[in-house]
Amino acid sequence: MNSSSSSTRSALPLAPGERLPVSKVLTLSPEALKEIDQLADKFPDRLAATLPALHIAQREFGFVSLEAMKAVAKALDIPEGHVYGVASFYSMYQKHPVGSFHIQVCTNISCALNGAVALLDLVKKKTGISQRGEVSSDGLWSVEEVECLASCGSGPCLQVNHDIYDEFVNEAELDRVLEACRSGQYREWAK
Ligand code: FES
Repeated sequence: MNSSSSSTRSALPLAPGERLPVSKVLTLSPEALKEIDQLADKFPDRLAATLPALHIAQREFGFVSLEAMKAVAKALDIPEGHVYGVASFYSMYQKHPVGSFHIQVCTNISCALNGAVALLDLVKKKTGISQRGEVSSDGLWSVEEVECLASCGSGPCLQVNHDIYDEFVNEAELDRVLEACRSGQYREWAK
């Protein structure tokens, strides 16, 4: 399916003084709260659980909104300022809504020499996404051009959510991955 229409969000990253978008979800689910509590118990200090707790919040809220940061601070009983500092430092926390499958394509030099720009164009064409900050109308896709996915020797490579595909990704492999996403067959490597 090639989603021709899509909703456009403002350009990323946030400009100075620009406010984060407000998320539709405003609180963590009981399951997520329990998950955060359990992982916090694994650390000697609850501050140390901020990173994985933010990942849970990103999954629940769709992106790391201000509400998500406040919810994490409350769940861990740590200062909101600490959570904001961590969330705003790391680029892997999305500050705008993204699709169910957020696809990042590396176009840094090693991957560029192996056809990364053509791969990025293919990803955009096949998902109907033309620019960063855009989400397909069916909510499935968002696409981001990134600098390096730490697999420079076997590019071009891409990342779907948290999963890296780094074995010289070609159109056939891309089609296989996208079809798995569309059909509900996508299995995260981490699970
Ligand atoms: S240059 Fe593409 S992964 Fe490093």
